[in-house]
Amino acid sequence: MKNKKIILPLIAVLILALLIFMFYFNNNKIELTNTGKGKSPVAEKTDSAELFFPDTKNNQCLVCHKGIEPIRDPKSEMMQEIYKVALKAGYSDNECIVCHGGNPNAKDKLSSHQGSIDYLIKNNGATEFYPNPASVWINDKTCGLCHAELVTTQFTSLMFTEAGKIQGTAWGFGGLQGYNHDVATLQHRK
Ligand code: HEC
Ligand code: HEC
Ligand code: HEC
Repeated sequence: MKNKKIILPLIAVLILALLIFMFYFNNNKIELTNTGKGKSPVAEKTDSAELFFPDTKNNQCLVCHKGIEPIRDPKSEMMQEIYKVALKAGYSDNECIVCHGGNPNAKDKLSSHQGSIDYLIKNNGATEFYPNPASVWINDKTCGLCHAELVTTQFTSLMFTEAGKIQGTAWGFGGLQGYNHDVATLQHRK
């Protein structure tokens, strides 16, 4: 009888301790994902004192494109680099034009979506408005400002040529190149 009286509160205490532990552990986990640890080293690497954030109020594109989210975390190195290009171009608060081109001063739809600013045209950037800045036909002037090598190799990439599928089929019939799955990994050579 005496034992039972002790065991019940003991179990209750143990369960409570377990709950507290789980709560604490869970909280920790949320904190980890929020700081981006384990995902991309960027969030940790950048020192918040040096970060630049544009004043979105001065971005004419956003007057109409209200609520569109930044294409990447504004604290990421990529966004910080894009802000820098915009800054150099004289439009520190409009990073959209670095990828999309267009006219950052225009207030109507038609002229906003037209042409590009002189700085970008003269510095290998956008020469006109791009609805899709990632298009392979023009991305040497957008993503390619910073990812030049990837833009060059995209035409020989597995996703562009689907060489892997051809290789896979050829392999099924005994193989054209033998059994080495290295066709799609060949780098572009000039
Ligand atoms: C006066 C309002 C207005 C301004 C200013 C404006 N846009 Fe737009 N934009 C629109 C509307 C409305 C659409 C929807 C498609 C359409 O009606 O052409 C659109 C569509 C787009 C699209 C998709 C185009 C497509 O063909 O799929 C992009 C990209 C875009 N805008 C970027 C920009 C950028 C960058 C700027 C600033 C340089 C800008 N817009 C300024 C109103 C505006
Ligand atoms: C890093 C380059 C980059 C930056 C900076 C950027 N965009 Fe984009 N944007 C893209 C890409 C890539 C797409 C996807 C286009 C697609 O596949 O349709 C896109 C899509 C869009 C679309 C939708 C187009 C559609 O057809 O649905 C709009 C609108 C747009 N962007 C506006 C903006 C505005 C406004 C800004 C600035 C606040 C901005 N973008 C900044 C690269 C960028
Ligand atoms: C002004 C320079 C600049 C431009 C323009 C730019 N990037 Fe980046 N990008 C970077 C830098 C720097 C990094 C590496 C740091 C980071 O991940 O933020 C990066 C990283 C990336 C990554 C890896 C992300 C990750 O989490 O590892 C992808 C994917 C990417 N860029 C795609 C694009 C595409 C697509 C475009 C064009 C629509 C583009 N970038 C335009 C500078 C740029």
